[in-house]
Amino acid sequence: MPVTPSQLKKLKSEARAASRRAYAPYSKFKVGAAILTKSGKIYAGCNVENASYGLCNCAERTAIFSAVAAGEKKPDLQCVVVYTSTPKATAPCGACRQVIYEFGPKARVVFTCRSKDRQDHTITELLPKAFGPVDLV
Ligand code: THU
Repeated sequence: MPVTPSQLKKLKSEARAASRRAYAPYSKFKVGAAILTKSGKIYAGCNVENASYGLCNCAERTAIFSAVAAGEKKPDLQCVVVYTSTPKATAPCGACRQVIYEFGPKARVVFTCRSKDRQDHTITELLPKAFGPVDLV
């Protein structure tokens, strides 16, 4: 199902609001993400850092894990919007691409920022030849 312009607008505003809730005292790089599931629900997340730097969790994964924790057994991701308050849109990291693919092998991934710069891709453009659930046979 295609994402409507009003859904995209809402996703961007949720991702932006979530970025303001980021806990990023080490990198100072605040990221917000919002996901749309097939059920039409939106979940948001922000990055959460730790003094033990390797334990930092990205905004995209926070949003997806929040959906699972909220009861979506296997959220079917239609769209993921990532927001950073930067002049250029920020691409999701490799780990997040893998987690997006798990729950949305056809998901649309949009990165937005404070300017008009914006990128819009499918997850398989961002993570070609992905390893996923169907490979575990
Ligand atoms: N970060 C995200 O939240 N998402 C990404 O896709 C890339 C990186 C966060 C992790 C860390 O808290 C900060 O940005 C700097 O890497």
